[in-house]
Amino acid sequence: MMRITPGIYAHTHEYIQTGQEDSKFGFDLKTGLADKALQQVLANKRMNMIGIHAHIGSQIFELNGFQMAAEKLVDIAAEWHTKCGYQPQVINVGGGFGIRYTKDDNPLAPEAFVDAIVKTIKQSAADKGLTMPAVWIEPGRSIAGPAGYTLYTVGGRKDVDGLTSYLTVDGGMGDNIRPALYQAEYEAVLASDPFAKTTETVHLAGKYCESGDILIDQAHLPATKPGDVLAMLDTGAYGYSMASNYNRNGRPAVVFVENGKSQVVVKRESYADMTRLDQSYDPE
Ligand SMILES: Cc1ncc(COP(=O)(O)O)c(C=O)c1O
Repeated sequence: MMRITPGIYAHTHEYIQTGQEDSKFGFDLKTGLADKALQQVLANKRMNMIGIHAHIGSQIFELNGFQMAAEKLVDIAAEWHTKCGYQPQVINVGGGFGIRYTKDDNPLAPEAFVDAIVKTIKQSAADKGLTMPAVWIEPGRSIAGPAGYTLYTVGGRKDVDGLTSYLTVDGGMGDNIRPALYQAEYEAVLASDPFAKTTETVHLAGKYCESGDILIDQAHLPATKPGDVLAMLDTGAYGYSMASNYNRNGRPAVVFVENGKSQVVVKRESYADMTRLDQSYDPE
């Protein structure tokens, strides 16, 4: 498939219809890069381009951007069909369906996205006389995100009188880089009593050696003590897959849980794992 930049960029809740020609991803339409790429693919007997693809962003809570992107993909397909007889078998509108990380997020049902995307492509294809292609989507976060959460054990606490409080836990940006990398927001609950009344707001701080290692800037929690376990919710996507050995810490284990049964599916990294590739230095 060829990924194109449709000139639509979903930036959280709004769509910017200009500029994305300079995106690092995909071939842009405006400057003709996509056309050039198509010619190269069609001239190459070893390549079979089954369709046209775009991915306009993540955490999208509206239908509009997908409809605009879908329309644009059909437009380009019709143009290529007229110009050189190319008929895509697939139109792929990518992923980006938003999930509820915090109470401020109001995700749409997947059916709403699919319905809008398919209707738009059907209508545009009919308008342009293009054979209806298969419609593909690539949802990532909306499947894996809500399926996972991260357990942290509460450690120390620092109250800066009259100013603020930090509650520290035994993980952080090494297992979830999103808050430090782009201020992603989450909610956490006391694992043993998820519905406990919240009584305080603290900075939930990670253990890594960075001031920016704050997992939740404004965590609303009940009173906690060292040893309590907190569950940070909706961490199933872009958590473990982006985990690192920051400060040379091992990554945590991953456990699948279903119907009262649990199974470790990724082991916790040990010190031996961390030093496995180390070589002794032999000065000449
Ligand atoms: C090409 C492409 N498709 C799909 C996805 C999945 O996006 P999401 O997890 O927001 O649904 C991504 C994420 O970056 C992507 O780059």
